[in-house]
Amino acid sequence: MKLAPGTPLTASLTFNEDQGPLPVGRLAMAGGLAQLEWSPELIAAPMPVSALLYPPEPGLHPARGRDFDGLHGFLSDSLPEGWGYLVMRRRLSKLGVAIETLSALDRLALVGDHGRGALTYRPPTAPPPEVDSLDLDALAAESTAILAGEEGDLADTLATLAGGSGGARPKVHVGFDAEGRISVSDGETAAGHEAWIVKFAATNDPPDIGPIEAAYAAMALAAGLTMAPYRLLPSKTGPGYFATRRFDRPEPVRRLHMVSLSGAVEVPWRTPASYDLFLRATLAITRHADDLHAAFRRMVFNVLASNRDDHTRQHSYLMDETGGWRLAPAYDLTYSAGPGGEHYLDVEGEGKNPTREQARSLGRRHGLPDRLIDTIIDEVRAALGDWARFAEEAGVTKASRAEIAAALKDVAARFSP
Ligand SMILES: Nc1ncnc2c1ncn2[C@@H]1O[C@H](COP(=O)(O)OP(=O)(O)OP(=O)(O)O)[C@@H](O)[C@H]1O
Ligand SMILES: [Mg+2]
Repeated sequence: MKLAPGTPLTASLTFNEDQGPLPVGRLAMAGGLAQLEWSPELIAAPMPVSALLYPPEPGLHPARGRDFDGLHGFLSDSLPEGWGYLVMRRRLSKLGVAIETLSALDRLALVGDHGRGALTYRPPTAPPPEVDSLDLDALAAESTAILAGEEGDLADTLATLAGGSGGARPKVHVGFDAEGRISVSDGETAAGHEAWIVKFAATNDPPDIGPIEAAYAAMALAAGLTMAPYRLLPSKTGPGYFATRRFDRPEPVRRLHMVSLSGAVEVPWRTPASYDLFLRATLAITRHADDLHAAFRRMVFNVLASNRDDHTRQHSYLMDETGGWRLAPAYDLTYSAGPGGEHYLDVEGEGKNPTREQARSLGRRHGLPDRLIDTIIDEVRAALGDWARFAEEAGVTKASRAEIAAALKDVAARFSP
């Protein structure tokens, strides 16, 4: 489970599983900080793998601080988060290893080939166990048990299917074949299958979290946001599981490199930040006006939809094999009260109740013409005005429909012209 002392960890980018990986660099810990040496191939390319920081130049590049377990932000994005960490910890403890004794590099080695995006790590230190069950209801029930501190027969399966998954909610990475049949193999998607993420409820989620997220996805598409294809998977025991197609696995065999806003600018997700930062980073990383406009539209949506769980890991960028960066589709859009009723990202300093004027002022500072700003706001408002229909179509309960409708009405009032 641990890298042998003195063994450097190598990171590579695997854009195509049928072709050789592109070496990214070598990593070693020194004084609690990871030291990165970019590979000659990457320096020659050169490719902006870290998006903004750590330009691909010769020499040793220490991580800038300890906020990300002593790792470089873009590498720490590969580590599993809340749920993925929990199942990894359980699996290791069964094998007699306390996860706390592992360095950040040991944990990257455990991610091996099965992380998010296209980054892969060598040498891998944990062979994935066999997967023996794909009964979603059984896996969902087991996730609930694990969150409650219990243990059952499917814990190993969940650990495998969690891959290097991010986010707090229990989730599994699975494949779908052309007929919509679910499949897995070795923690990665079986040949020819599409890669999807299936999400289960966290302890404090409403029971209809699946339908709510599906209604939000439909509403976001109507509001002009880009989202990955999604579906609500049937359940025998509840109202269904939200599933989203992985945009970092655009086709079988192909992978895209992914970095979160948090990893790119090295702002930990728990740290409140601003939409100004999101917009600035989006233009600096992608250099696409379209992506800047999409980021602005997402900001308007998150405010009007009361999606206050909009922290720096809720936004990502994707890089293809040519080294070009684009804003990733929106994900994890749902009704959320946020910490203390505040958005993680503020709009012109306002976290609780951003107004239309504040949104306009932010847009203007980023060079968006007034007409475009107003068009975006009005298009998003129109889509949000149809909440009742989206909610009913997705099977949201009456209670949740009413609660969310009341919240949305409140925000809309501050956004009327
Ligand atoms: N369609 C997708 N394609 C690829 N990666 C995705 C997709 N949707 C989500 N992700 C990745 O998985 C992570 C977890 O997903 P998501 O944010 O939906 O889960 P969550 O557990 O609800 O998160 P949170 O802890 O923020 O509530 C995201 O941070 C992102 O890195
Ligand atoms: Mg999330």
